Amino acid sequence: MPGAFAERVAVITGASSGIGSALAKELSRQGCKLGLLARRKDRLEQLAADVKTAGGTAALAQADVGNREETLQAIQQLREQLGPIDLMIANAGVGTPTEIDPMNSADVAAMFRINVMGVVHAIEAVLPDMLQRGQGHLAAVSSVAGMKGLPGSGAYCATKSAINTFMEALRIQLRRKNIAVTTICPGFVKSEMTDGNDFHMPWLLETDDAAKRIVRALERKKKVFTFPWQMGLMMRVTAWLPDWALDQVVTRRSKKLPKRKLS
Ligand SMILES: NC(=O)c1ccc[n+]([C@@H]2O[C@H](COP(=O)([O-])OP(=O)(O)OC[C@H]3O[C@@H](n4cnc5c(N)ncnc54)[C@H](OP(=O)(O)O)[C@@H]3O)[C@@H](O)[C@H]2O)c1
Repeated sequence: MPGAFAERVAVITGASSGIGSALAKELSRQGCKLGLLARRKDRLEQLAADVKTAGGTAALAQADVGNREETLQAIQQLREQLGPIDLMIANAGVGTPTEIDPMNSADVAAMFRINVMGVVHAIEAVLPDMLQRGQGHLAAVSSVAGMKGLPGSGAYCATKSAINTFMEALRIQLRRKNIAVTTICPGFVKSEMTDGNDFHMPWLLETDDAAKRIVRALERKKKVFTFPWQMGLMMRVTAWLPDWALDQVVTRRSKKLPKRKLS
């Protein structure tokens, strides 16, 4: 059913799976034209075909968001196919534990390159045009993990807290330019990222449910959208816990995290 995004053009990074893919389908149902970006081209092709079969419009471009040139070029290709971009959702991200002995600094660097610079590159690709047109909407998918440094996930938390402050500053800087800025902070959502977690994930959301909530928040041009609210509240409480208590709760859990290598 056409909604607030009818005939608008949205680009989603990390559209090949999980939250990004579900967001593409939800926005397409509302009549939005979609630019899909990620590294796995076969997945993007399948998603674009599904969108088109359902009567929507989709174009795709392959890029590693950590690579500036590739990302700028891919988003330019999407603009040429779809027209000016109204909404950028910088969603691509990766997560792996932070180890201490030895420190897996190559994985840490990869997380910063993808989670932080990936957002910067996506925004850099669309902002000049939005400024010229005097309209647009920038969104980044951060995480509730950005609210507190969690033992075993230090680098992932740091990348998400970097996004939070980066987007906050942009929002204020763009206040008088008619460009909205939304920071999206999900709790646990079913996706490839959480599939390997063998610990209890409180208030775990289905991917489609998460996408619907995010689209509603984007419609309302929310500044920061933290969901589900129970997870936001729990993280705010967690931020006040003494170190020994957090150590008890999280360190035992993070020892069980899958040790996926990014680098
Ligand atoms: N699931 C959760 O519980 C949760 C909670 C809070 C925040 N988040 C955030 O939500 C976002 C989406 O994650 P997800 O849960 O949907 O996980 P996911 O299914 O693993 O999706 C991650 C997406 O990012 C893309 N991506 C990763 N590295 C990339 C790169 N270098 N260049 C381009 N695309 C890249 C992946 O595509 P390719 O591999 O094809 O490139 C994939 O489409 C992430 O930013 C994540 O941090 C997730």
